[in-house]
Amino acid sequence: MSVRPDKRQVAIAPSILSADFARLGDEVRAVDEAGADLVHVDVMDGHFVPNLTIGPPVVRAIRKVTKKPLDVHLMIEHPERSLEQYVQAGADVVSVHVEACVHLHRVVQQIHAAGAKASVVLNPHTPIVMVEHVLESCDMVLMMSVNPGFGGQAFIPEVLRKVEALAERIAARGLDVDIEVDGGVKVANSAALAAAGATVLVAGSAIFGETDYRAVIENMRREAAG
Ligand code: DX5
Ligand code: ZN
Repeated sequence: MSVRPDKRQVAIAPSILSADFARLGDEVRAVDEAGADLVHVDVMDGHFVPNLTIGPPVVRAIRKVTKKPLDVHLMIEHPERSLEQYVQAGADVVSVHVEACVHLHRVVQQIHAAGAKASVVLNPHTPIVMVEHVLESCDMVLMMSVNPGFGGQAFIPEVLRKVEALAERIAARGLDVDIEVDGGVKVANSAALAAAGATVLVAGSAIFGETDYRAVIENMRREAAG
């Protein structure tokens, strides 16, 4: 089932990784008021990726300042050990990396049992065949278009072909699965991503690097609408 609040258009999910963490509540309120469809929250453990961010207490704090769905991207080893804590803290969508899950199908079931929508993530080098047999069970596939760990990196153009190929497979099987793209997403590549089949666009530095968050979100949405 789609994670988008409005299925008629591509959803925009600001990544708070590029927000001013000292003013996190204000930043989340600002992107909410600027028209974000979801709020993308990057959780990093310093093991799966070479960076460390936040955990369930901060997700719980963010939950208090916005009613928008929280799209929690777990860049952690053994997500099965802690994912319930993120759902209890307020995550609406939980994304787990294919590369971090030996029993991916079980983890998808575990996310649903905890009460959230389930998304599976592919690193840039991981082929789409890795999600072929969980597509029926999950709500979204998140395609990394940078190597995860940091905001502000350059978009890897090869990922466009992966998005196209996955969108074809989803359509051919008549499934209702979103494709989210994360990393190096800007106003300038939003049209190409939407044309390839992306339905949720994550943007960190493109939004938080500007002063007018609403203008960036509206421009991305307009580009994506073609
Ligand atoms: C990267 C994170 C992204 C990051 C994107 O590991 O998963 O969500 O915030 O940042 P930008 O949009 O700046 O590439
Ligand atoms: Zn992310």
